[in-house]
Amino acid sequence: MADLDNIQSGKNYHLDKPHRNPAFELKGSNSLDWGMKNRLARIFNPRDHRTVMLAVDHGYFQGPTTGLERIDVTVVPLVAYADALMITRGALRTSIPPEMSRPVVLRSTGGQSILKELSNELIAVDIEDAVRLNASALAVQVYIGGVHEHQSIGNLAKVVDSGIRYGIPTMGVTGVGKELVRDSKYLGLATRICAEMGAHFVKTYYCERDFEHVAAACPVPLVIAGGKKLAELDALKMAHAAIQEGAAGVDMGRNIFQSDAPEAMIQAVRSVVHEAEKPQKAYDLYLSLKNAPVGSL
Ligand code: R5P
Repeated sequence: MADLDNIQSGKNYHLDKPHRNPAFELKGSNSLDWGMKNRLARIFNPRDHRTVMLAVDHGYFQGPTTGLERIDVTVVPLVAYADALMITRGALRTSIPPEMSRPVVLRSTGGQSILKELSNELIAVDIEDAVRLNASALAVQVYIGGVHEHQSIGNLAKVVDSGIRYGIPTMGVTGVGKELVRDSKYLGLATRICAEMGAHFVKTYYCERDFEHVAAACPVPLVIAGGKKLAELDALKMAHAAIQEGAAGVDMGRNIFQSDAPEAMIQAVRSVVHEAEKPQKAYDLYLSLKNAPVGSL
């Protein structure tokens, strides 16, 4: 019952303190609505505006990828070390415990396989299902220069619009066809188009020359994919160079889950992204975690 007799009236209105309106410092995101910012702050650590996303969505077009044959066995132990999980709705519902507290970046386009033209994608998730799954972001592949470039840009625009209705940000994913060169000119074109079409952050690839120009010209955060499996030290060098040259983190898959020691590798990647650790130091961390006796950590 309401306490009508002893209603407490407010006493301290802090009249000497102006109402605070701190800027939301994640690149390009200050004008977004509260829900968008809140979801982005779950993905990008508000302390350094960086993220280690674990990408495990490969099965959507290439089936049981090495390292992802059993997501329930191999990915679940890695989730605690990731800032966010990029995944399909099928893998999420079937293989990831709902008690997991990491934000989900939900793959939202698909419709082709490695046997066919890769750019021929459509929107593969209804926005209502993304809400049902508590997605923190939607991911849309965009194929600039691909056979179905126009269709894939249209997918991005539609998903951005749906996400805006519910306060869910969209990540543009720059898909690169076999025939396209991953240089700064191409990646600059692809990432900028994603941002201009409304993507709230963009996933791309690292390039050794002029990546800082790609990052500078993209007005929203960039994260890099890992690409094909490299030696661990080389993958850490790539992540380190990308961060130094303006990336806001990684959305890394094969270089983590195909490593000899995936839990050690994701922690080494975290040290590069969040602690600005040098690649050799991060590699030493990888080796020490890999070689630690079971149960000793
Ligand atoms: C590719 O289409 C998938 O979206 C992957 O999420 C992406 O390629 C990142 O994974 P990786 O680091 O293995 O390249």
